[in-house]
Amino acid sequence: MTLQGIIQDIVDEMRAAPDRGKVATYIPSLAKVDPARFGMAVYTVDGECHAGGDDEVGFSIQSISKVFSLTLALGKAGDQLWERVGREPSGTAFNSIVQLEAERGIPRNPFINAGAIVVTDVNLAGHPPREAIGELVQLVRYLAEDESIAINEEVARSEERTGERNRALAHFMKSYGVLRHAPDLVLGTYFHACAIEMTCRQLAAAGRYLMLDGRHPGGGRTISSIRARRILSLMLTCGHYDASGDIAFRVGIPAKSGVGGGILAIVPGRASIAVWSPGLNANGNSQLGSLALERLAEATGWSLFNPGRLSDR
Ligand code: DON
Repeated sequence: MTLQGIIQDIVDEMRAAPDRGKVATYIPSLAKVDPARFGMAVYTVDGECHAGGDDEVGFSIQSISKVFSLTLALGKAGDQLWERVGREPSGTAFNSIVQLEAERGIPRNPFINAGAIVVTDVNLAGHPPREAIGELVQLVRYLAEDESIAINEEVARSEERTGERNRALAHFMKSYGVLRHAPDLVLGTYFHACAIEMTCRQLAAAGRYLMLDGRHPGGGRTISSIRARRILSLMLTCGHYDASGDIAFRVGIPAKSGVGGGILAIVPGRASIAVWSPGLNANGNSQLGSLALERLAEATGWSLFNPGRLSDR
């Protein structure tokens, strides 16, 4: 079957799926999104994009922005970043605070909220928040080769109004000296990063540099090969919070989820995949998005763990 045929089958199955999970409500403007939505887009290494369903409808990328923020921060701080944030799976919820006290304010990894708040603090160095967030949006536009990508200000404001948990995380880390800037400045920047809106096509396009070992699809390098590999390793081990092991088991592809219901998944040297379905499972990951990735991996044989089968296709 062709890749387009596989995607269409998945779209048809997901459109009819009875159990769609629950749309996130703790950020009020996310609660308004229609749970019936499902979209998928796949860029392959030859530059083709295959897509289906609601692949051109914008959604809030939320924690998927942590991949782009980390890419930016590694460019700024290099390996010194790892003195302020770990790289171990947390085994806890995305917004958990429990490990921070035992570990002296150093978050387990850059993909939990606490870790991404530290990464945002790194990206703020030498900039007012408006410029730091502008730099991140510019990076995402450059990666996707799409100047229309922007922040949904309503979502940013909505999260700003309800972000008490993130405020607690930031102030707690500030008390340990892990944050260098005022928590409010860091959080304002973090909320805006989470509120970047993209379609599945745009998100899959933005992920191509990770499929290409750090190279920009238009030529040149975005990040070094070793950094691309490390970001992918973290996506595999930490990209779905407490469900990262389950996703590695079921899908076997590095992937990062967001509470907007999106997932970015990368098959190195093969494909950059974006799926979106707003209903979440108990771990805060897209219920049908995870299932769709499982179906795609089954149907294509794409996985980190069977390169032989990949080259047969
Ligand atoms: O900070 C938050 O809670 C949200 N802006 C992002 C959380 C998120 O996407 C977690 N993902 N599953």
